[in-house]
Amino acid sequence: MQKLIIKGKKELSGKISISGSKNATLPILAASILASNVKVRNIPLVKDIFTMVELLNFIGLKTKLNKKKNLIDISNQDKNINTLAPYKLVKTMRAGVLVLGSLLGKYKKAKVSLPGGCAIGTRPVDLHLFALKKLGAKIKIKDGYILAEAKNGLVGAKIRFPSISVGATENALIAAFKAKGITILENCAIEPEIIDLISFLKKLGANINLKGRTILIKESKVKNSRINHQVIFDRIELGTYMIAGALLAKEDLIINKIDTKIIKYEIDILKKIGVRIIKKKKSVIIKKSKRLKKINIVTKPYPGFPTDLQAQLMVLLTQADGVSKIKEDIFENRFMHVPELKRMGAQILIKDKTAIIKGPSKLTGAEVMATDLRASVSLVLAGMIAENRTIINRIYHLDRGYEFLESKLKNCKAIIRRV
Ligand code: UD1
Repeated sequence: MQKLIIKGKKELSGKISISGSKNATLPILAASILASNVKVRNIPLVKDIFTMVELLNFIGLKTKLNKKKNLIDISNQDKNINTLAPYKLVKTMRAGVLVLGSLLGKYKKAKVSLPGGCAIGTRPVDLHLFALKKLGAKIKIKDGYILAEAKNGLVGAKIRFPSISVGATENALIAAFKAKGITILENCAIEPEIIDLISFLKKLGANINLKGRTILIKESKVKNSRINHQVIFDRIELGTYMIAGALLAKEDLIINKIDTKIIKYEIDILKKIGVRIIKKKKSVIIKKSKRLKKINIVTKPYPGFPTDLQAQLMVLLTQADGVSKIKEDIFENRFMHVPELKRMGAQILIKDKTAIIKGPSKLTGAEVMATDLRASVSLVLAGMIAENRTIINRIYHLDRGYEFLESKLKNCKAIIRRV
């Protein structure tokens, strides 16, 4: 099994280009089942994307992945379609469940494996099914699979999500494209990745209006022409490298290929902590930090502070003066990185949903275990500020979501290698 070995305390300088967003690409690829021919650019070459492509191939789409150009051509000739998403693919990547909306919308039936729990919590899909049922789907759960059918097609409805879910909003949005009449989705997630999905669906011919957390979708025909779409940048990858810069920038760490409008809130929070950021339109420059200050944060759906940056922020706060608090309000079990950070010398106490972090603490290298995608990258950050050597096991989690992590960091003078 592969490991990462990091020699800590090496200052960073140079440039990092941010990749396309994994979480925006996944629903867009799932929605491409609706289209006949699409070209998607700026896709990150990470494991979850490869799994989604494998799923599309399994369903019967033709895909051509150009790794050199980070783009994929997908065509659906409606031949030999398998309306099935098997367990072996959905279990390694929960977003596989997003094909439910497109299969049901286009082919009126789908059999999709239930994704099951994962390290960060039980992660049910009840809200996805709730919305699809409201659109007229008959749904049964059998042998670990969701069996969904809408013999006469889906029908528009007014649906208010009882709580905000990114995936359920995406599935409902994709399904509603082909539903008869008008669909109104209320209390939706409005993450930038959802806005990107909406822009993709509009190119496909969808009639969609977004106001606050309400999305209105009018029944429309899918365009037959070839669709071209450029995926937005990965705001979580950006946040991760901004934190790396805050911890270790020698002079300037330049991060580009981004849009600072989308991560205004995260930049404001980092500035409050004392991170020195120069904001341009398409890049940020992180300067060497002087003093980092404590802060209290609660993770929230967009535009709040993202749960996907919680673990990385925690590493930053181990270096801030005073006692900080992070309340994890999205997932019930997303502090798996804490015991590992404590083994490296961090002073963190967990009380219910809140982590209480006392800083600054001196971290020292250790052999640690990655548990999920974002927890893994928080250990990379911790390893980079720790004294001596850190060995991170189970790094396949990292490969699910961070494109060229080692080479991006190495280019900025980090000492990191995979064995
Ligand atoms: C997406 C992101 C993930 C991010 C999360 C929250 C992708 C591929 N993944 O995950 O990186 O951490 O949003 O920003 O885009 N819930 C239910 N029932 C459901 C669905 C969700 O109870 O049917 C709960 C979840 O357990 C969780 C909360 O709602 O507590 C939010 O989850 P959700 O927004 O759906 O996350 P994902 O779409 O799975």
